[in-house]
Amino acid sequence: MTESIGIIVGSGFESLGLEIAARSPTKTPYGEPSSPVLTLQIGEQRVACIARHGERHGLAPHEINYRANLWALHERGVRTCIGVNAVGAIAPGFAPGDLALPDQLIDYTWGRAGTFGSDGRVVHVDFTEPFDPVLRGRLAAAVAHCGLEVRAGTYGVTQGPRLETAAEIDRLERDGCAMVGMTALPEAALARELGWAYAICAVAVNYAAGRSPGGVPIVAEIAASLASGMRRVAEVVRRVTPSLAGDAM
Ligand code: HPA
Repeated sequence: MTESIGIIVGSGFESLGLEIAARSPTKTPYGEPSSPVLTLQIGEQRVACIARHGERHGLAPHEINYRANLWALHERGVRTCIGVNAVGAIAPGFAPGDLALPDQLIDYTWGRAGTFGSDGRVVHVDFTEPFDPVLRGRLAAAVAHCGLEVRAGTYGVTQGPRLETAAEIDRLERDGCAMVGMTALPEAALARELGWAYAICAVAVNYAAGRSPGGVPIVAEIAASLASGMRRVAEVVRRVTPSLAGDAM
């Protein structure tokens, strides 16, 4: 079976509420992916999905085998892929529950296996624009169709698993980051190495450290916003999927 459209879903996977038609345990030359490849039935379309942190959310961001996740999907035929990522909101006016389509990335992670190049084969992909503009456009249209607001901006990728200090968020803001998360890299770079059309639909689940107007503890905020944010993402995914079928041939 081949599935040309993929989706990699992070925190809140269980709240997405999409129908899982099949589960295919998979091994890759890079080891085991975070979850079996889950076949989602979205309207007429079959979409190959990986639960980035595992189906029981047992993997921290730095423990995820990003290469195995992407390889497993690539072997299924995936060439167009949406990453769904929970983020903390940094930019003014960006609030928990809001969606974002980031347009740039800054990498603050370290020690993650971030390339398929090996054994003397060095891969230098062009990453000037880290996300596929056509896929981002389709996501933007789907979000608008759902009557939702969306913002763009730079996604700063931190190592985790701890959340940031207020000073670290100040620094990210000075660097130009509108949002902060822990999993966009190396995923987006590996997708580029494989030649995929890849873009992220991010959902803000908390105000980043030091940004909460009410001083709500971040972890309590995350729990409250994740389910509602993911329901919005599911709506967008249902809306965008039919428009991707032609792209991904
Ligand atoms: N920081 C980093 N990653 C995150 C956050 C955050 O505040 N919220 C969700 N993922």
